[in-house]
Amino acid sequence: MIEYGTMKVNGKGHLEIGGVDTVDLAARFGTPLYVYDIALIRQRARAFKETFQTLGVTAQVAYASKAFSSIAMLQIANEEGLSLDVVSGGELYTALAAEFPVEKIHFHGNNKSREELEMALDANIGCIVVDNFYELDMLERLCRSRKCKVPVLLRVTPGIEAHTHDYILTGQEDSKFGFGLQNGQAEAALKQALQSNSFELLGMHCHIGSQIFETTGFVLAVQKIMAKLVEWNHKYHYFPEVLNLGGGFGIRYTNEDHPLPPGYYVEEIVKEVKKQARDNGLKVPEIWIEPGRSLVGEAGTTLYSVGSSKEVPNVRKYLAVDGGMSDNIRPALYDAKYEAVFANRPLEKCEETVSIAGKCCESGDMLIWDLPVPKPESDDLLAVFCTGAYGYSMANNYNRIPRPPVVFVESGRAELVVKRETYADLIRNDIRLRVSLT
Ligand code: LLP
Repeated sequence: MIEYGTMKVNGKGHLEIGGVDTVDLAARFGTPLYVYDIALIRQRARAFKETFQTLGVTAQVAYASKAFSSIAMLQIANEEGLSLDVVSGGELYTALAAEFPVEKIHFHGNNKSREELEMALDANIGCIVVDNFYELDMLERLCRSRKCKVPVLLRVTPGIEAHTHDYILTGQEDSKFGFGLQNGQAEAALKQALQSNSFELLGMHCHIGSQIFETTGFVLAVQKIMAKLVEWNHKYHYFPEVLNLGGGFGIRYTNEDHPLPPGYYVEEIVKEVKKQARDNGLKVPEIWIEPGRSLVGEAGTTLYSVGSSKEVPNVRKYLAVDGGMSDNIRPALYDAKYEAVFANRPLEKCEETVSIAGKCCESGDMLIWDLPVPKPESDDLLAVFCTGAYGYSMANNYNRIPRPPVVFVESGRAELVVKRETYADLIRNDIRLRVSLT
């Protein structure tokens, strides 16, 4: 069994997380259920932060809340001294509701609306990561009319292909995100930002991709950006205070994945930034990073009740659970792979191979292909590991399936932090026709 964080098998032979028996959790909160191991989140946050401290670099570790945003999660992020990356009015609203310190909120997005920018200006957040000229112009107009100055980073695309799944690449030049570094757009944006009275240009941002297992991409990104910064320093006498290298640090979904320890990515990034700064006689900027998946991914486990099964003779056996692509769309969307065990008997010998199907009305709703399991029984509880990032946050109501609740476990205690949606929630925004349209 693949093990994460505080996971262990207890005296009853059940899977335990955060000192809490998962069979009890399922009985108490129902299934499907997202369970988060808070100690593991804290450990990851500290590993990132402590590495920066050890290396003596001023830094911000901003939690990319798109991975999993809820008020309680943002409270934990704040407790751990993290900053916060939000990408929409909704994520910002959640951060404000969680009373997250506004000066540590960074606002991303390639198409922020005027309302969203106004919301960010009203809240006086730490910085806006400007993605394109449309936004730069709109933000400048807003600041001028409000007679305010806003701290900004410019998001640049350094033209690096990170080693990952194509769908989640965001760092190539041919990307919807950011100002091209090589094609002159980044320099034009820099000039515009420097000439305007509306911006306090803190620095540059880039994000080269997701689920990255080596440091080469980050080192290359630093080299490319620093080369431009040196050039711009000569031309415009500007050198940024902040260099933000985004997120994307890989995690272990299955035994095929071999991620580096969080601190290792940080060490390599810092080493390269220091080297480039030293070689060019420049000061070392603050280094910011934005981990999402690597903070919460491995901390999340989804519990499902096992239901129907179907044998296709000489082909395979399907075993269906009470959730699926509505609570985890990643297998269907990215062909993502997961490991799982029966939480009520994780150590029992595997005797057959089954494929785990969801309950949605779609053939593509498969969670795991070819999973070895003990002979399935009617009260089995399936624990799918590593669902903490982009699981709940990408959950949906396909087939009008209510989204599952979220429970935090730590030191033997379980706390419900997101309620299960009800059928009434599902029709909350529906409006009954009062007049026939025909
Ligand atoms: N910063 C920026 C600007 C980003 O665009 C992202 C992710 C992150 C930070 C956090 O990346 P992480 O450390 O979580 O890899 N839904 C996809 C992932 C999309 C990631 C988008 N941006 C998935 O389920 O794999």
